[in-house]
Amino acid sequence: MLKLPVYLDYNATTPCDPRVVETMLPYFTQDFGNAASRNHSFGWKAEEAVERAREQVAEIIGASPKEIIFTSGATEAGNLAIKGVFEAYALKGNHVITTNIEHKAVLDTCKHLEKKGAEITFLPVKNNGIIDIPELEASIRPNTILIAVMYANNEIGTIMPVAEIGALAKKHNILFFTDATQAVGKIPVDVQKDNIDLLAMTAHKMYGPKGVGALYVRRRNPRVKIVAQIDGGGHERGMRSGTLNVPGIVGFGKASEISWREMDKEAIRLKKLRDKLEISLLELEETHLNGSIKQRLPHVTNLAFKYVESDALMMTLNKEIAISSGSACTSASLEPSYVLKALGWDDDLAHGSLRFSLGRFTTEEEIDFTIEKVKSSVKTMREMSPLWDMYKKEMI
Ligand SMILES: Cc1ncc(COP(=O)(O)O)c(C=O)c1O
Repeated sequence: MLKLPVYLDYNATTPCDPRVVETMLPYFTQDFGNAASRNHSFGWKAEEAVERAREQVAEIIGASPKEIIFTSGATEAGNLAIKGVFEAYALKGNHVITTNIEHKAVLDTCKHLEKKGAEITFLPVKNNGIIDIPELEASIRPNTILIAVMYANNEIGTIMPVAEIGALAKKHNILFFTDATQAVGKIPVDVQKDNIDLLAMTAHKMYGPKGVGALYVRRRNPRVKIVAQIDGGGHERGMRSGTLNVPGIVGFGKASEISWREMDKEAIRLKKLRDKLEISLLELEETHLNGSIKQRLPHVTNLAFKYVESDALMMTLNKEIAISSGSACTSASLEPSYVLKALGWDDDLAHGSLRFSLGRFTTEEEIDFTIEKVKSSVKTMREMSPLWDMYKKEMI
């Protein structure tokens, strides 16, 4: 039986997998020790659990456990990476290259540093949502210290050419940071193969709890230095002070282990469902795919329905289907998403776009229901639209 509402906003956050919750539970009540308490068994048990989670998290990105710093999520990890490198490499240079479709966690961190004397290049993307590698290389300067390019985009799901970026960064002796929040646990990520020096990730996008994430910091070849942004008791080898969130970290570890094991099969299953949804919705007239059709995550599609306001469409659907307009719309400003605008779309297309992101608990029945509902809502809304009427008359 179909249970409503249908959740298709897995890129915003995922539910905790019950197996993750079960693993976390003892660490709230029974094994509640502080992982930094060195003098008794409560502390030892907590520390042991944290170190096991560190191994599980490291494994999913091909890192070694010592290269994992636990944080409160990907926003903090991104801040620590970018600000931490900017401060640690101040003598080498002050130029950072990023893209104009990064998550705000990266974009606004770069803008913050700009006010503190950093030079930032915000690279544009092509209309498929992917940067141009020759353009990236041309933007490198003698004072470039960091390239910060996301692994996969949260709104359109496109995957950046990470291996090429890593190779380029290595060739020019520049550090490479990637915000892999949407990629880890969904597609294979390998920091060694792709020459990634720093990587941000978060548990709540991979069926773990909210409020816990990690920064990977390479320790060899090169040994990356960062300046801590939170000072205190010297936890996480001095790079991030503060009592560790032991239950959260344990959950993050378990979530990584499950995703690592199930990722390949799950990607195939979700791609099938995503393609079914996408192909059916693209049958609607004047409907377009946002972003690359080839280089993208298997569980995401972002579609533009011309002559429809996505916010109005969402309002008609949101009692039964949870989706996102993929826009950074705030109630105060009706600006369309900066990511969609960066693709070169006019406001019309950007305003009519919806992001569907599928996940572990999505069923075929839910997809069939969504296809039917979205199709009929788009048709109804267009029938009421004077612009659609004009478009149809011009067609005749
Ligand atoms: C690409 C990307 N980076 C960073 C974040 C922020 O992650 P967190 O919620 O763990 O701070 C998100 C979450 O929306 C994201 O999608």
